[in-house]
Order: sequence, then C-alpha cells, then structure tokens
Amino acid sequence: MGWLKALSTPRALNSPPVRLQDLELVDVSDRLGEFDPTVLSVVPTAPVWMTRAERLLVFTMTFTLRPARYLEIGTLRGGSALLVAAAMDALQTDGRLVCLDPEPQIAPADWDRLKHRTTLLRGFSPDALPEASRLAGGSFDLVLIDGDHTAAGVVRDATGVLPFLGPGAHVLFHDCFNPDVARGIDEFVGEHARRLRDFGAMTREISCERAPDGTKVVWGGLRMVIVDPTPAPAVHLLRAALLGVEEVVRRVRHHQVRAAARRVHELHTGVEVRGPGQGEGTRPTPSATFDPPSAPSTAST
Ligand SMILES: C[S@@+](CC[C@H](N)C(=O)[O-])C[C@H]1O[C@@H](n2cnc3c(N)ncnc32)[C@H](O)[C@@H]1O
Repeated sequence: MGWLKALSTPRALNSPPVRLQDLELVDVSDRLGEFDPTVLSVVPTAPVWMTRAERLLVFTMTFTLRPARYLEIGTLRGGSALLVAAAMDALQTDGRLVCLDPEPQIAPADWDRLKHRTTLLRGFSPDALPEASRLAGGSFDLVLIDGDHTAAGVVRDATGVLPFLGPGAHVLFHDCFNPDVARGIDEFVGEHARRLRDFGAMTREISCERAPDGTKVVWGGLRMVIVDPTPAPAVHLLRAALLGVEEVVRRVRHHQVRAAARRVHELHTGVEVRGPGQGEGTRPTPSATFDPPSAPSTAST
C-alpha cells in the first residue's frame, strides 16, 4: 500500500522536485578545495549584457547543477553561452549547449571557445524548440530565457519549452525586473502553478536606460523556476479524492464537524468556502481556488 500512501500524502512544500536519491552525484572527497580561479576570467570578459551578479549566477548554477543539456533562447553575441560553456569546461563534463537565435552575432574567437560543446540553431522560439530538443538528444535540465522581451513573448517561450524539460529542470528568466518580462513570467507561473516552483528573483542588481520619451526603463534580474514532474491526470484526480476523504475523516475525528461539512461541500462543488477568521459567510471564492494537490515527488519519471 506504499503507492496509496504516496498518493494520499500531500507533497511537503519544501520537498525537492526530484528525489535526492535519483540525482547523479559526483564524489570529490579527494579534491574538496580543488578550484582553478582562472576559470572565472570569463565572468568580467564575456560579451554579455548582464550584471555582475547575473554573470556569476549563470556560471555558478552551471557549475553546481552540472546540467547535461542547456538551452538558451536568445544568444546574440554568445556571452551567456560562454559563461555556461566555461563552467562546463571547468567541470570537464560532457554538457552540451543548444543556442537558439534568429540572428546570432557570435565573434569567430568566441565561437572557437563554444563550438566543442555547442549547437547553434538559427530560428525563432517557440517554433524551433522541437528541433532544439532533437539536436540536444533529450530534455533540457537548464534553460535561459532571454529572447523576445515582451510579456507575450516570454509566455510563448516559457510555455513552448515546457514539454522539453526534464523533471527538476531549472529555468532562468533574464531581465525579470523589466515590467513587461515580469508580467510574462507572472502569467506563465500562474498558468502552470501546479507544475512549477517559483523561486523568484535570485539577483538584486539592475541596469537602467532611458526610453525615447525620457522615462526610465529597468532591465536585469534572473528569476528561477523549477519544473516538477508531470503527474498523470488520473493520478492527480485520485490523489485529490484521497486527500479529500482523508481530510474529512480527520476533521470529523477532531470534532471539527463544521469544517468537515465545509470540506465536503468544497470537494463536491469545487468551490472554496472561507472558514472562521478567513471571512466566513462571504461569497465563495471561484472554483479556480480549489487546487488539487500536485504529484508526489516519488512520481518523478
Ligand atoms: C538580450 S539578447 C540575448 C543575450 C544573451 N542571452 C547574452 O546574455 O549574451 C536577445 C536575443 O534574443 C533574440 N531573439 C529575439 N526573439 C527571439 C525568439 N523568438 N527566439 C529566439 N531568439 C530570439 C534576438 O535575436 C537577440 O539576439
């Protein structure tokens, strides 16, 4: 009955999207402090429009997470790709990059530093994403979205890449402090809330410019989202049902009869009713607030 327990146990909010025992770990016992600081020379020199914090984060996330397949939507001069490739070089992994851009402008000298592990795909996201995944040979585990900076463009890119992400994949959105980009990320995260963990902005630095009308335009910021495994719809529904029954029984057992009745009503109608201290007696909130629990972290494949 382990499966029943797994299905009926709500995933703790802080449980990892991929089970720790499923991660591929690297034993560095004999070289704990081994690090060549010259590998960081790429951080100030990469031709990238990123703040110091963003450069360091892109390098560091690649170094710490050891992605096998990195996707970049929006490459331009290859600066962010160079940060990723340099971290992979420092690790000496087989990590691969797929860089998608309709008009890349990578200098030959920089391409020389990328080409041993990079596929450059000329095209537009999201249309070219299936081809990007095919070229990568599998699902991506680290993605940088830095292409179309309109809200609609961000939603298109993020939604388009979802089917090509593995469980536990990390997605970084660049320029998350730009209002249009922020709106796009918020919309995407809201739409896919059950599959995503939004870690918010991972950096605090911005860069600013003046629009032609004189107003200040804010850029910069990296926001991180992690993708959970996709639950099969049937599993989703079964879990919701089991959780509901379990909760009702628990409340009756604790003499919370009114609360139990309210929960039965919610489960029946899909409409949440607020309890004491939460505005009881007010209009029920829309059915969208009834949020079936997401899949257990054990259903990771
Ligand atoms: C800000 S630059 C990328 C910078 C790069 N990530 C870096 O940090 O070095 C944006 C790039 O996105 C590309 N782009 C715009 N729309 C795109 C789309 N739909 N798909 C892929 N790339 C796109 C542009 O051609 C441009 O080169």
